Amino acid sequence: MKGLILSGGKGTRLRPLTFTQAKQLVPVANKPVLFYGIEALHEAGIRDIGIIVGDTKDEIRDAVGDGSRWGISVTYIEQDEPLGLAHAVKIARDFLQDTPFVMYLGDNILKSGITSLVQEFEEEKPNSLILLTEVPNPHMFGVAELEDGRVVNLVEKPKDPPSNLALVGVYMFDNNIFEAIDAIEPSWRNELEITDAIQYLVKNGYEVRSHMVTGWWKDTGKIEDILDANRLILETLTQKIEGDVDADSRTNGPVVIEKGASVTNSIIRGPAIIGKNTQIQDSYIGPFTSIQKDCLVCQTEIEHSIVLEGSEIREVGSRIDESLIGRGVKIFKCPPKPSVYRFIVGDQSEIGIK
Ligand code: DAU
Repeated sequence: MKGLILSGGKGTRLRPLTFTQAKQLVPVANKPVLFYGIEALHEAGIRDIGIIVGDTKDEIRDAVGDGSRWGISVTYIEQDEPLGLAHAVKIARDFLQDTPFVMYLGDNILKSGITSLVQEFEEEKPNSLILLTEVPNPHMFGVAELEDGRVVNLVEKPKDPPSNLALVGVYMFDNNIFEAIDAIEPSWRNELEITDAIQYLVKNGYEVRSHMVTGWWKDTGKIEDILDANRLILETLTQKIEGDVDADSRTNGPVVIEKGASVTNSIIRGPAIIGKNTQIQDSYIGPFTSIQKDCLVCQTEIEHSIVLEGSEIREVGSRIDESLIGRGVKIFKCPPKPSVYRFIVGDQSEIGIK
């Protein structure tokens, strides 16, 4: 089997972060979301992976390279415009040839992995295998309708969902998917929808098998989902302290402190991860917090948050909670006079003050 990871698209729902960064590279527990997909494919024995890239191709290439770090071979496939998930498959035809493949959306994380499903697909050879999960907001996803456990209908982001079963962003196909993609028309949002292509397979008598996801799944398309995914991954953290923690500091629970990081006169309550060369001084870092490399946190309390590389947070008077702080951001206390707030904030940022 080959792998096809979709890492193009625009990421508008993750602005402002995605003004300057590919959405698939936003870190969860200090690792880009995209790497979780690569690792899931690798774990399932897949070594030949195509990555669909769009406007952010250079950044994705810099982060992933040739794949040798995972022992895989990576082929980049450029999509000029994000014309839909099925369009991405269509332009990958030269890479995929007639080999069955796993398509993995680059902004999805699946806890249980896909190894046993890939095995089932290879052994039993249905034409497609899709993953489903119950969600409270099915109108935000592709939705499947089942009858006696068989898929009978699929519809993309319906206003009036026929069920609460969302399509998860991992799919398996044989080469009949190309016939389906050639047969469908662009949707109202002018995208070739993979959901419509799978519906074509169902209607034309191809075998589309479905599995319910065991364990959690996250589409990290929105900020709250990134924070949630960060929490879920951090829950599985095991303690590893490679940086310096001085005698006046305390760590509780699973905490990772990467090389070159230093913690002075502070409390780190896990699960939490402190990136390379980051300094934590006179601060409290609470559970479910990831701080990336090269940051400074000084006289500040923060929890349930993600701080991206190179940021500085100093002397913030109240606890920072459920926040996502971008790269190279500075948050600091102003001098007492004049009593003002001073903001230099990029487009579509959000700031909550009391
Ligand atoms: O996450 C699961 C959902 O993913 C499914 O339930 C939906 O049926 C499916 O359409 C998809 O919906 P989204 O609206 O969340 O897809 P999004 O536009 O976020 O794209 C998913 C990934 O594919 C993302 O990493 C960007 C990439 N992409 C997207 C498009 C439209 C491409 O590489 N090329 C594209 O043309």
